[in-house]
Amino acid sequence: MHAPRDPARSPPTRREPTTNDRPPTLPLFPELEPEPPAREALGPGAWVLRGLAREHGPALLAAVAEVAAAAPFRRMRTPGGRLMHAELTACGPLGWVTDARGYRYVERDPETGRPWPPLPGLVRDLARAAAAEAGFPGFEPDACLVNRYAPGAGMSLHQDKDERDLAWPIVSFSLGLPATFLWGGAARAERPRPVPLAHGDVVVWGGPDRLRFHGVRPPADAAHPLAGRFRLNLTLRRAR
Ligand code: SIN
Ligand code: FE2
Repeated sequence: MHAPRDPARSPPTRREPTTNDRPPTLPLFPELEPEPPAREALGPGAWVLRGLAREHGPALLAAVAEVAAAAPFRRMRTPGGRLMHAELTACGPLGWVTDARGYRYVERDPETGRPWPPLPGLVRDLARAAAAEAGFPGFEPDACLVNRYAPGAGMSLHQDKDERDLAWPIVSFSLGLPATFLWGGAARAERPRPVPLAHGDVVVWGGPDRLRFHGVRPPADAAHPLAGRFRLNLTLRRAR
């Protein structure tokens, strides 16, 4: 279905010149040329796509505000009864929830009894583009979890494994305050690698990395010009 690139073999945006290569066309005004979005491999199936969504920041934040107006942010409890630190809401056909009955995807917001707000077209399009960029073409998300972190709120190491078909990747957008993403291993005990994420960065993980443990360190207290004192995260999944 997809062939994740081998990061060791081919950094996607640059390659070594060969003798047959023609010299590159130099830009007339190099300072005006946009930098290609930098990609960093976190694993054979996992990429940080730096700044991929940055230019859409205002539109994405407006879309989040619209979602939250219909399905307000709330703190959910883990099946074990612990209150999560991040506030959550969702959009799209399915929303991820957690309560005493467990983790699952549901078609209706348990707070309002209404279907979750629709998945904004921009979010779908960007998620598809990011997934394709990371080697997962044809991604059609049916669930978008929206996490809101105030300074001091983080998320402990966990795996995303409530989805039916683990062949599809996770696509995760970071907006607002910067924070450190924790990129763990296949086992919880493995020490995670800290990955700083800024407004507009996108992380995609799938294939051999699909079940990697991950989490988020609480953002430091600051004000982001577009998002105020929050970090927002949109996580797109194919749940069913
Ligand atoms: C999550 O794993 O659900 C959230 C990840 C993030 O906030 O970056
Ligand atoms: Fe997650």
